[in-house]
Amino acid sequence: MQLSYTKSGILGGDGVVFYNPLYDGGGTTIGYDMCKHPSILKHLSNINDTLEICSGPGFIGFYLLFNGLTKKLWLSDKFDGVLPDILKTNAFNQVDVKFIHSDCFQNFEKSLKFDLIISNPPHVQHDMEWIRDRKTEEEKHASYRINLDEDLKFHREFFENVKNHLHPGGKVILVENQTYISYATIMDLAGSGFECEVINGVYAEKNFYYIVLTLGTCVV
Ligand SMILES: C[S@@+](CC[C@H](N)C(=O)[O-])C[C@H]1O[C@@H](n2cnc3c(N)ncnc32)[C@H](O)[C@@H]1O
Repeated sequence: MQLSYTKSGILGGDGVVFYNPLYDGGGTTIGYDMCKHPSILKHLSNINDTLEICSGPGFIGFYLLFNGLTKKLWLSDKFDGVLPDILKTNAFNQVDVKFIHSDCFQNFEKSLKFDLIISNPPHVQHDMEWIRDRKTEEEKHASYRINLDEDLKFHREFFENVKNHLHPGGKVILVENQTYISYATIMDLAGSGFECEVINGVYAEKNFYYIVLTLGTCVV
């Protein structure tokens, strides 16, 4: 099936991010909001290597890169339909951001480690009418992929593996929705070894929160 690409571009600092609106999972709104929030910015000093996982077109990651908040950037998503736009963003802005096509960390080399892993992952644990209630099949597929993390499969795998991909003192920053996944659940999945900060009531609907998990420097 041929996708009709809209040549949309949004400014990420000094850069332009290309995207198909169908693959925007909130990065143009809550994602950008997160990057500018003072409670998040205070965590973004001395970051060399950043991964945006569940990246879609990479709104959050490219914003950090174009604003000098990270020196290097990797993007990863289980859906490689976002790759053409990432390549366009790379070419237009003359950067060389790598994309890893992967279900969670499955295709990551073991040695790949980051100072920051940031994400706006799917938040909803069970199928819901508003997820499937879309005009076209293409929109419905995109909605499932963007919104649904059935029985927390992604979140479980993420926290089983994330410590292996963080440098000592590295950080995980997630934007989540309290209606579907509480911060108690996230802390439970994260387990020991992290210092945790929750920033509540962010973005317009106030159900969203940011959670910052900093890996203790003595944890391997
Ligand atoms: C809420 S959207 C966020 C997209 C983009 N980062 C944004 O902020 O607009 C969630 C993204 O996670 C991806 N995704 C869902 N399950 C995944 C998994 N198991 N592994 C990797 N990516 C996944 C989807 O393809 C989608 O791009």
